[in-house]
Amino acid sequence: MFDINHIRAQFPILNEEVNGKPLVYLDNAATSQKPISVLNAWEEYYKTINANVHRGIHTLSQLATEAMELSRQKIQRFINAQHDYEVIFTKGTTEGINLVAYALTNQIKPNDEIIISYLEHHSNIVPWQMLCERTGAKLRVIPMDKSGILQIDVLEEWLGEKTKIVAVNQVSNALGIVNPIEEIIEKTRRLSNAYVLIDGAQSAPHFKIDVQKLDCDFFVFSGHKMYGPMGTGILYGKESALENLQAFHGGGEMIAVCSFEKTTYAGLPFKFEAGTPNVGGNIALGAAVDFIENIGHENLQNHENDLLNYAQKKLLEIDGLKIYGEKADRTGVVSFNLEGAGIASDTGMILDKLGIAVRTGHHCTQPIMDFFNIAGTVRASFAVYNTFEEIDILTEGVKKAQRMLV
Ligand code: ALA
Repeated sequence: MFDINHIRAQFPILNEEVNGKPLVYLDNAATSQKPISVLNAWEEYYKTINANVHRGIHTLSQLATEAMELSRQKIQRFINAQHDYEVIFTKGTTEGINLVAYALTNQIKPNDEIIISYLEHHSNIVPWQMLCERTGAKLRVIPMDKSGILQIDVLEEWLGEKTKIVAVNQVSNALGIVNPIEEIIEKTRRLSNAYVLIDGAQSAPHFKIDVQKLDCDFFVFSGHKMYGPMGTGILYGKESALENLQAFHGGGEMIAVCSFEKTTYAGLPFKFEAGTPNVGGNIALGAAVDFIENIGHENLQNHENDLLNYAQKKLLEIDGLKIYGEKADRTGVVSFNLEGAGIASDTGMILDKLGIAVRTGHHCTQPIMDFFNIAGTVRASFAVYNTFEEIDILTEGVKKAQRMLV
């Protein structure tokens, strides 16, 4: 059974007041709050078994290693990867994408093509531009229509021998639009030998992920957006795809044998995990996976869909409020502006005075804002602990902002 009070009771921060008002936290696409189980897992690690992993013969080092590797296995099951060594710990989605973009360098030639979409976060644009600068490859961008729906038919024409990687997000952080990644992957497989990377930063907190069913080569996401600690993230890579990548960071742990003449690299996953990892964070990320699985994906998704539909309905009752991507399939996000109310941050500041946390601005997606010819939006984004009452408070807050600004 889905019990919202039981869920909320696990998040101490939800009892905080902001500006004298109960906190209404609707900035979950930026980062989610953390349940007690995650905080405890992190604290327990530091209180009881803090030691470096994979290095020590002593007991604490072995306990820390076991706990972190157990977490890797939980994440393997969470995304249905075939092997635990296909799960690489990173510090977040951005690092995962940069790792792949850098490590592909020696496979890319001048005039090869890299395909992304119009709906990408800067972190799934800039690393590919940097790869293009290093190699002379070209970046192509899947266009979108006025509703924010990607026009993927262009892929029939674009995909071919020159295509080396297709990198798209499953859910847009700015608009919450769910992209047709299954179709994009099917087309890519049928028409090219390109790798496919899915940016799952905004989907892993909401959807059941099955990387084998998707048949993507890489799937990247952040821990901190799915109830886990900041500074945690995952790069999943299919074994064959990871084996083809050159090393990224050099350092301890990622070597097989190191000498001044020549160094050989360790196998997966360690080849891509140079240096001391975020052991406490990675263990606590396993607790975040448990938190989501204890609620159940179906319960979580149903509640979040209900929240989104309710928010959309309530907000659209406000005259002069425009939702971007309104007609598209979406999850977790309502991105809007009030006509005549000036810049989005003015609305955001008034909401903050009422204890309501939303993000305003371009959301690290300037091309999307340029497309709609706006500087930014007000973005409310939901997590499993949000309530319909909080959406009522948001709606009243937006009405108040409108009275003050328009
Ligand atoms: N990418 C995060 C967001 O959309 C930070 O807010």
